Amino acid sequence: MRLAGKRALVTGAASGIGQAIAARLAADGAAVLTADRAPGTDVTLDVSAPESPAALITACQQQMGGLDILVANAGVSAFEMLEGHSDAVWNSTLSINLDSVFRLCREAIPLLKLSGQARIITIGSVMSTFGEAGMAAYAAAKHGVLGLTRAMAIELGPHGITANCIQPGAILTGITRPAFAANPAFGDYWVEKSALKRLGEPDDIAAVAAFLASNDSRFMTGATLVVDGGATAHP
Ligand SMILES: NC(=O)c1ccc[n+]([C@@H]2O[C@H](COP(=O)([O-])OP(=O)(O)OC[C@H]3O[C@@H](n4cnc5c(N)ncnc54)[C@H](O)[C@@H]3O)[C@@H](O)[C@H]2O)c1
Repeated sequence: MRLAGKRALVTGAASGIGQAIAARLAADGAAVLTADRAPGTDVTLDVSAPESPAALITACQQQMGGLDILVANAGVSAFEMLEGHSDAVWNSTLSINLDSVFRLCREAIPLLKLSGQARIITIGSVMSTFGEAGMAAYAAAKHGVLGLTRAMAIELGPHGITANCIQPGAILTGITRPAFAANPAFGDYWVEKSALKRLGEPDDIAAVAAFLASNDSRFMTGATLVVDGGATAHP
């Protein structure tokens, strides 16, 4: 119960990593408000809609009386080769995966300042550090998430707010399951690439998020934790 008394907001919590993080934070004692554009969470909205950040922070204020832990997790994958890459896919990927993270964090600052010991946790990707063919928009957005996290850490540290990023490798979720099913060689590639010889599970990421949300990570900020089973430990 190391998060007893804490109040958390998790976006993209209807599936995969976000769902696991919300469950883990709750199991550790936090009050958790969940949001997603898919049904099944406390607040149903599209995080990239202009009114969503204010709506979410108002819900935190009204339903939990504040906010201590913000997990900006909602995201989409995009695969499109650069030659002929559509503006629409570029814009929607950047809008959901990067712009909405910036807007939600900005909106949350006044409540997080009141916490005294607040946590921002962003979900980047191994694509926050590397690139891949067909992943231009996704990699650009996830590199941006890491840069945003570091900048927030420096700016918000004096207010007792830490900001850290998690960079998952290949995790079995709603984003990846169809791709692995359609192309088993893709899954096999990631299993083989990982040192631990398996794909990740959402709970593997949730455990790290719970650590970053807790007092155990109190002297960490502007940091990034690669959670990929060792897939990127070698070239
Ligand atoms: N699965 C992986 O291998 C992997 C690897 C690295 C990073 N990530 C990141 O983890 C995060 C979670 O992804 P996941 O793998 O759990 O996928 P997922 O599809 O299982 O879950 C993502 C959730 O976000 C929600 N969502 C998407 N766009 C939204 C929007 N505009 N507004 C509100 N909700 C929205 C979806 O409805 C879904 O419930 C994403 O940011 C993703 O980029 C995943």
